[in-house]
Amino acid sequence: MTRRYDFDTVIDRSNTICKKWDGVEEKFGAPDLHAMWVADMDFKAPPEVIEVLRQRVDHGIFGYTGRFDPYHESVINWMKKRHGWEVKKEWLCHSPGVVPALSMALLAFTQPGDKVIIQPPVYYPFFDVIGGRGRTILENPLIFENGHFSMDLDDLEKKIDPSVKVIFLCSPHNPVGRVWTGEELERLGRICVKNDILIVSDEIHSDIVFKGSKHVPLASLSEEFASRTMTCISPSKTFNIAGLETAVVIIPDRRIRENYQRVIDFLHINGGNVFGTLALEASYNFGEPWLEELLLYLEDNLNFMDDFLKRKIPEINLVRPEGTYIPLIDCRTLSMTGPELQNFFINEAGIALDGGDWFGTGGEGFARINIATPRKLLEEGLVRLEKSILKLRTK
Ligand SMILES: Cc1ncc(COP(=O)(O)O)c(C=O)c1O
Repeated sequence: MTRRYDFDTVIDRSNTICKKWDGVEEKFGAPDLHAMWVADMDFKAPPEVIEVLRQRVDHGIFGYTGRFDPYHESVINWMKKRHGWEVKKEWLCHSPGVVPALSMALLAFTQPGDKVIIQPPVYYPFFDVIGGRGRTILENPLIFENGHFSMDLDDLEKKIDPSVKVIFLCSPHNPVGRVWTGEELERLGRICVKNDILIVSDEIHSDIVFKGSKHVPLASLSEEFASRTMTCISPSKTFNIAGLETAVVIIPDRRIRENYQRVIDFLHINGGNVFGTLALEASYNFGEPWLEELLLYLEDNLNFMDDFLKRKIPEINLVRPEGTYIPLIDCRTLSMTGPELQNFFINEAGIALDGGDWFGTGGEGFARINIATPRKLLEEGLVRLEKSILKLRTK
């Protein structure tokens, strides 16, 4: 297949108010680190999206923005085409991001002291959102066996009590890279139905799924599940437009939708950002060929990294992801605590990774690495890591 899009060119992101590169020294406390953290990509967004934004900039008037039929149709078509789920226009609610949607769900549907289930190791803002609203975290840790993470649903059933009101599902799961199967989701959904738990399903990574796996929106499995689920999606990860802060919350149930919408209206954030709105529509309408090539490039990067680690750094193993571009590497043979590992990466290797321990229970000894970068930059980070491991071996 001839490739139309260029993911190899290294684009200098410095001085673009970019968190990953411009913010790395502030975050990790050391200069000249090779940034492999944060879940955005070092690739330009699809040219078709950039062109729509360029035309809008040229227009020059940036007044209040609305979402009209073409916007809704772009979401509806995307969900049907990519995920086989027929969503209705009236189910679509707005959010300036997926994390804000999680916060608003808690404001709408829980009281201080209510319990919210999460499945660590998991995206760390889940902890902040729940704790920050005075809600209680109920951990249902994932199981890691034979290089594979899975849900511990027996543990979940045992732990649930009447104060559990919500589950934050991460599907696909950041950072473990699992694309949950229909069977796994079915069982989880049944537990939630039985215990009257609201499912807030963060499906922001649902478009980044590799060959052999298929993302299943939990709410698409049955009307019963749909009627207790808020599904949060966004083109932000898929098309590298996270800075445009635009997400969609799909809520089939009228009562849940109205309560969510009340919080949105109270905060007065229903308007949306002109560029985010247009970029979402353009991404879903025109971005598919670009995405198909991106997925091939990411898989090649995964293969490259897997091979590099096996040949040169056998102490560290890639936990092969089924989806997401931020897989875990298993560094447990180095026998370092989370802070020791972080210190090693920063001060010995000169690379910035998300520490596995940032993701809570089960994350210690792992690190999360961002592979959505030109191969040359991925290789540079891996070579830095190799050099530091060589020094460690001779100590
Ligand atoms: C699972 C998950 N949810 C949400 C987000 C961020 O969402 P947003 O920027 O739309 O708030 C991320 C970003 O990495 C993520 O991995």
